[in-house]
Amino acid sequence: MQKPYLLCIGHRGAMGHAPENTLLSIRKAIAMGAPCMEIDVYFVDGHLLVFHDDRLDRTTDGSGYLCESTFDYLRSLDAGKGQKIPTLEEVCTEIGSSACLNIELKGPETAVPVASLITQLVDKGWDINRFLVSSFHHRELLALRGLNRNIKLGALIKGIPVDDAKFAEDLDAFSVHPSLEFVDQRFVDDAHARGMKVYVYPVDHPEDMLRMQKIGVDGVFTGFPERVLERYSQCDTSMGWC
Ligand code: G3P
Ligand code: MG
Repeated sequence: MQKPYLLCIGHRGAMGHAPENTLLSIRKAIAMGAPCMEIDVYFVDGHLLVFHDDRLDRTTDGSGYLCESTFDYLRSLDAGKGQKIPTLEEVCTEIGSSACLNIELKGPETAVPVASLITQLVDKGWDINRFLVSSFHHRELLALRGLNRNIKLGALIKGIPVDDAKFAEDLDAFSVHPSLEFVDQRFVDDAHARGMKVYVYPVDHPEDMLRMQKIGVDGVFTGFPERVLERYSQCDTSMGWC
């Protein structure tokens, strides 16, 4: 019997198996066959770094605020299992043509350097449709849209607005990314009626995966890619996000 469909997006690589947002985590997600993955990005000391928190304490052996640190200090830290905090360029090189990439703009002032890096990679032959740039900072998304009309945008949200997915349509988004905690059938239907995909975060438990699939969600961010891949079929991502 044909498996039902639910796109697998490795969350911070495969954070259920390896230190989040590291090259090890990216390699793990690729090895498991995740067709897509998500990482978080800050712009610090002139470099795009792949990191989730505003502070260093939870995931590294350093301390203090990421954005107040120098690049050399940040690169000297252990981000888990001897991994360095990677640059966005290193992550892109590691992924190559193995998967589609969702770059979440976590920090301020990230739109300009991210648009610039994607443009450089596209000039070198990368397919622009393999990139999806998302953020909770909707002004950063608007800035990115102003810089490049062709990069796919994903609008992140934690709660549910009164007019459902309209805010994402207003941003000209390809997809809307609600949280598992708040998403419901009405929101999914509204996003689809507006022509957008719905990708939900974080979805690590098989019961939640089934619940999402049943309300018509298109894809889920998971730290455990194998749990989605063994239960759900995947679209053909060789031409980009689908
Ligand atoms: O992009 C989906 C998800 O990563 C958003 O939340 O906190 O895990 O970055 P967070
Ligand atoms: Mg994220």
